[in-house]
Amino acid sequence: MDTNNSTAVLDPGTGSNPNATHPFKLKRIHHVQFLVGNAKQAAFYYRKAFGFSQVAYSGLETGNRDFASYLLEQGKARFLITTPLRPASAEAEHVGRHGDGVFDLAFEVDDAVQAYNAALARGARPAIEPHSIGSELPPGSPGTVCRAAIHTYGDTLHSFISYHGFQGVFLPGFVEAPLPTEAVGILRIDHAVGNVELGAMDEWAAWYSNVLGFKRFISFDDKDISTEYSALMSVVMSDDSYSIKFPINEPAAGRKKSQIDEYLDAYEGPGVQHIALLTNDIIHTVTALQANGVEFLRVPDAYYQLLPERVGTIDETMARIQQLGILVDRDEDGYLLQIFSKPVEDRPTLFYEIIQRKGSKGFGKGNFRALFEAIEREQARRGNL
Ligand code: FE2
Repeated sequence: MDTNNSTAVLDPGTGSNPNATHPFKLKRIHHVQFLVGNAKQAAFYYRKAFGFSQVAYSGLETGNRDFASYLLEQGKARFLITTPLRPASAEAEHVGRHGDGVFDLAFEVDDAVQAYNAALARGARPAIEPHSIGSELPPGSPGTVCRAAIHTYGDTLHSFISYHGFQGVFLPGFVEAPLPTEAVGILRIDHAVGNVELGAMDEWAAWYSNVLGFKRFISFDDKDISTEYSALMSVVMSDDSYSIKFPINEPAAGRKKSQIDEYLDAYEGPGVQHIALLTNDIIHTVTALQANGVEFLRVPDAYYQLLPERVGTIDETMARIQQLGILVDRDEDGYLLQIFSKPVEDRPTLFYEIIQRKGSKGFGKGNFRALFEAIEREQARRGNL
């Protein structure tokens, strides 16, 4: 990513309030919850294909008549895979409308009640009132976990979760259900990207600034992200520590249908487009993922002929990078390596990025064109370009 480019700007004033104060601290992304049609099989996929280990379970056998939920972990990344067991629930409607997808990007905070109230005071739309999970005790009671949630784009939630001396596994209602799997080297979630409607990106950037105190880290416009056929715009919102990064994309006018439009059609609205998983050995991680059957986008070989000139010397062997289909980009801070999976759902919606950072804090701007042309070839195969 070339941050010297005039279109890549830090804190341009729109969508980022320089006087924003932080009413509550987000300690980390606690987990990402997926709502799916068959959690047992989805959990198996993330274990066998992506190297997550199962840690905990909640379902009929544990007295949970409403959901089957599997907690998977790799490094600090936690995926909660859930199937609603009853048809008349918001969660079941979510699966029906969107297919399998991300329901909740949940944060851990010190005090979920305070975070929820502060978010509402700053304009957030309430989703779930503060309560002690699995208990009638008032929020914050000793031995409990408090949860509350607000709406973000589409039907996606941000939960606030706070621990108040709870001693059990994960969350109340869960039991240990260890199924260790050989990891592929994923360390944590690097960023999670939302797709929103045309014209809504700046609104949501302002929302993250006003409600959560995020800063506009960087923006890309349609000059950065366009091909012959389609374009998109993107803004990266980040917390102060730069550990929680949420880019937001919107489609831009092009000659043909943008990949963002394809997503919005397939998902029936805004939602999480991709989750980037951080590794410190992308060659090892991608070799393992490909051996496990995870399918990645490929760029033409011409990309690799131009690569040495574009990024200079890198630690990795070029031949291996090309063989695996890994992309490389360099900026003034260093370089990054990244690769993108094909959608992991039948609808062309959610996909994954594997990323290794060697100094660069960017998002691979130098790869956008080659990458989006690769996406368009897949769109055309689906009859959606
Ligand atoms: Fe990304």
